[in-house]
Amino acid sequence: MKRIKIKELLNRTQGEKSVLVKGWVRTRRDSKGGFSFLEINDGSCQANIQAIIEHSLKDFSELDKKITTGSCVAISGQLVASEGKGQKMEIQVAEIEVYGSADVETYPLQKKRHSFEFLREIAHLRPRTNTFGSVMRVRSRLAYAIHRFFNDRGFVYLNSPIITTSDCEGAGEMFQVTTLDLVNPPKVEGNIDYTQDFFGEKTSLTVSGQLEGEIYALALSEIYTFGPTFRAENSNTSRHLSEFWMVEPEMAFYDLDDDMDLAEEFIKYLLADVLENCPNDMEFFNQRIDKTILETLQNIIDSEFERLTYTDAIHLLQKSTETFTYSVEWGCSLQAEHERYLSEKVFKKPIIVYNYPEKIKSFYMKLNEDGETVRAMDVLLPKLGEIIGGSQREDDYDILLKRLKDNNLDPEEYWWYLDLRKFGSAPHSGFGLGFERLVQFVTGMENIRDVIPFPRTPKHARF
Ligand code: 4AD
Repeated sequence: MKRIKIKELLNRTQGEKSVLVKGWVRTRRDSKGGFSFLEINDGSCQANIQAIIEHSLKDFSELDKKITTGSCVAISGQLVASEGKGQKMEIQVAEIEVYGSADVETYPLQKKRHSFEFLREIAHLRPRTNTFGSVMRVRSRLAYAIHRFFNDRGFVYLNSPIITTSDCEGAGEMFQVTTLDLVNPPKVEGNIDYTQDFFGEKTSLTVSGQLEGEIYALALSEIYTFGPTFRAENSNTSRHLSEFWMVEPEMAFYDLDDDMDLAEEFIKYLLADVLENCPNDMEFFNQRIDKTILETLQNIIDSEFERLTYTDAIHLLQKSTETFTYSVEWGCSLQAEHERYLSEKVFKKPIIVYNYPEKIKSFYMKLNEDGETVRAMDVLLPKLGEIIGGSQREDDYDILLKRLKDNNLDPEEYWWYLDLRKFGSAPHSGFGLGFERLVQFVTGMENIRDVIPFPRTPKHARF
C-alpha cells in the first residue's frame, strides 16, 4: 500500500477501506476499555491524525512498550469518521510497525510545552514540535512565494558568489576564508602573505550579493539573488544572525521611487500569499504566539506605506515628548527605538524613510543634488523595525570614485565596479530583504534564532 500524508488524509471527508500513514507519535493515551489512542504527526501539516489501537490486535503485546511518545511508526487501517471531539477522521489500526522507539525516560519532548531557549539546545529535535513545524512550513512557503513573485515579473534568478574579495557594505565585518596555517602563517615584512593562501589573495564570506547583482542587472535588466550572507558583527539581539538569508533584487532603469514601489508591492504580496496558503499554521501563530498577527498582516496588506525623508523623520523625533535612550540630531543613525516609535506610534503602519545623510550610508548610494544626502531607503515595520535596506546606486564614475576614496576603500579593488560606470552606465536601484526578519514578522516569533533551522550567532555555531 502507498503511504498517504496526513495533510491529504485530513482533507478527505469519506472513509475508505484502508490507508497507510507514517509518522512520529506525539502523544499516547490508554483507556480502560482496552484501547490506546495515538496522535501521529508527519510534518505535512500542523494537525495530527488520531489512531486507535485495540489491545487485542495481533502483535500489540510485543510492541506495546515500544509505542511511546517520540517513537516513529507506520500504521495501516480503516479511515473512519471520528466520534470524538477535535478531529474529523481517525484510523482504526489493523497493522502497526515500529520503526524506532523513543525512550520514555530520556526523550526530551515529553511535556506539551517547552521554552524556546530550551528547544534551541536540542536543535535536532525541535522540528518535531508544533511551533517549529509551523515556522518551517511558513518559511518554505515564503521562499517559494519570493521566487514566484520575481519569476512572474520576468526577473532572472542570479547566484552571487559566497566567497568574495570585496566588502560590499564597506564595514569590514567579514568572516575570513583561508587555508593558511593559522599557527604559523607565511609572512612578508611582518604581514601575512596571502599570495600563498588558497585563492592567492585575502578572501571572506560575502556580506551581500549586491555588487555582483549590479553587474548582471546592467546586462539582463532585472535580477534577484536569494542566498546566505554572513556578518561578523558582535550583535547579540533578537534581530541579528551571523549567517542569514538575504533576497536582493537589482533593477536597471529604476529610480528610488520605483525601488520603493517594488519593495512595498513585494512585502504585501508575500504577506497575502502566506495568509492564503498557510491558513492552519497562521491560525496556530495567532492563537499561540501573537494574538494580533492575522489582523496585523491584513492591515499591512490594506495600508499604504508612509514615505518620509530622513530629515522629516528627525523633525518628528525631535518634536516628540517620548524619552529616547539615544538622542536625536540630524546626521545620527536612527536607532531601533526611533524606528519603532515612528512606525508604531506616529504612523501605526509600515514606513519608508529615504534620503539619508551621505555620511551614515554606504559608498555605492547615489548622491542627491544637495551633496549631503543619498538616495537610500529603509522599510520599517511596526514591532520589527528594519526589514529592507536599499538605494538607487551611484552611476556617475567620478562621484563614485570620490566616494570610494572618502570611505577609505581602495579604488583598485573595485576596478570592475567602476568599469560598470565607464561602459554603458545606467540608472539602477535595488534593495535587500532579510529573509529571517520576514519569517519573524509573519509568524510573530520573538527571536530570530527560532525562525532559522540552525542559528549562527556570536559564540554559537555548533548545532
Ligand atoms: O541594510 P543591509 O545591510 O543592506 C545590504 O546589505 C544591501 N547590500 C542590500 C541591497 O541594497 N542589495 O541589509 C539588508 C537587510 C536588512 O534590512 C535586514 O532585514 C537584513 O538584511 N539584515 C539582517 N538580518 C539578520 N541578521 C543580520 N545580522 C542582518 N543584517 C542585515
